[in-house]
Amino acid sequence: MSNQLPEPDSAATEHSARLVALIQHEIAGAGGWLSFSEYMRLALYAPGLGYYQAGAAKFGEQGDFVTAPQISALFSVCLAGQIAEVLVKSGCRTVLELGAGSGLMAADMLLELQRLQELPERYLILEPSPDLRERQHHLLRQRVPDLLDRVVWLDSLPEKGFSGVVVANEVLDALPVSRFELGSSGALELGVGSHGAGLSLTARPAKGALKAFAERLVSMDDLPVGYRSEVCFAASGLIHSLGALLDKGAVFLIDYGLSQADFYSAERSDGTLRCHYHHHAHNDPLLYPGIQDITAWVDFTRVGEAALQAGFNVAAYTTQTHFLLDSGITAQLELRQTGSAVNNAQMSSQVRKLTLPGEMGEVFKVMLLTTDDVLPSSGFQGRDLRVNL
Ligand SMILES: C[S@@+](CC[C@H](N)C(=O)[O-])C[C@H]1O[C@@H](n2cnc3c(N)ncnc32)[C@H](O)[C@@H]1O
Repeated sequence: MSNQLPEPDSAATEHSARLVALIQHEIAGAGGWLSFSEYMRLALYAPGLGYYQAGAAKFGEQGDFVTAPQISALFSVCLAGQIAEVLVKSGCRTVLELGAGSGLMAADMLLELQRLQELPERYLILEPSPDLRERQHHLLRQRVPDLLDRVVWLDSLPEKGFSGVVVANEVLDALPVSRFELGSSGALELGVGSHGAGLSLTARPAKGALKAFAERLVSMDDLPVGYRSEVCFAASGLIHSLGALLDKGAVFLIDYGLSQADFYSAERSDGTLRCHYHHHAHNDPLLYPGIQDITAWVDFTRVGEAALQAGFNVAAYTTQTHFLLDSGITAQLELRQTGSAVNNAQMSSQVRKLTLPGEMGEVFKVMLLTTDDVLPSSGFQGRDLRVNL
């Protein structure tokens, strides 16, 4: 696949080389080897150089990938409707969006919440990338200037005692993962070392939580020697942090992912890690550090377990198809089919992309976590997939 990728221009090549030099410096400082999760953290989030921290376009046609809010505003409209229901039922008046990307989902959701007369008092955004924060501010100033005074960017999660609705679209898949390989005499942890002017993937005996996790998998399943996959300890950490801060409210998590049994099936023998560069997907995370996205699917069983430990109810878990249909995406589409035939056809095609099982509909899941006193919204009435977790 890699040889079909477009060549980066000289500025992008130079940028990537600077990040490789920084990673090599870190490798040397760590005694010759960095865990894959540490490598991924630097590749995506190293200040000024990581993929999400630096200036690459990332989202949309000019970037590397598209997310649901870019495909159709109806995604954000439906999600806003569900958030409004939870705000009303719970009496909460705050929304916290994690990882707001381009800011488009925030803009479209704020407009819909305004239309529904359920504007939150504050719309908080926790965005670790200064570059993306800047872009979010710019887009919101253009799209919703009258609502900008409700938007507050946070440097870290709020303090304990928070009440509100948290929403994260495609954030869990962007958190660093630990990678492992099942060796003939035990689990190995994959990591990164220096190789000439570049980087190479190398393995060491797994230790601690990763070793325990891989060994538990082997005892449960018949996985072959050489089997590789990954586990996201950072996702469980984030859920624990949300559990600690949320007194009352709910968390909507939307991402591509699977139950643990499907995630770690023998057929998926190279895991779920993928890289995205100019709309090409490939499997080499060392290829263009800093100028390509690196992502892994979400193990929703693990997220659900972390949620229960953190004191949440796993109130709902379903496919994006069912969530959007039950949130009224078809009616919303009909309402907007008032333009030209070309425009109407385009909108229908966007909704098909979001909802068809062969497109994003089945691969993407929506999980709702709630505190004890908060009821789920109507978008989860259709297909309850919690039995699969
Ligand atoms: C794949 S993008 C998704 C962006 C947007 N939600 C969308 O759907 O288009 C991942 C986003 O998560 C952010 N992010 C990464 N780690 C995060 C964390 N620990 N907390 C909050 N946001 C994070 C990234 O900076 C980026 O904005």
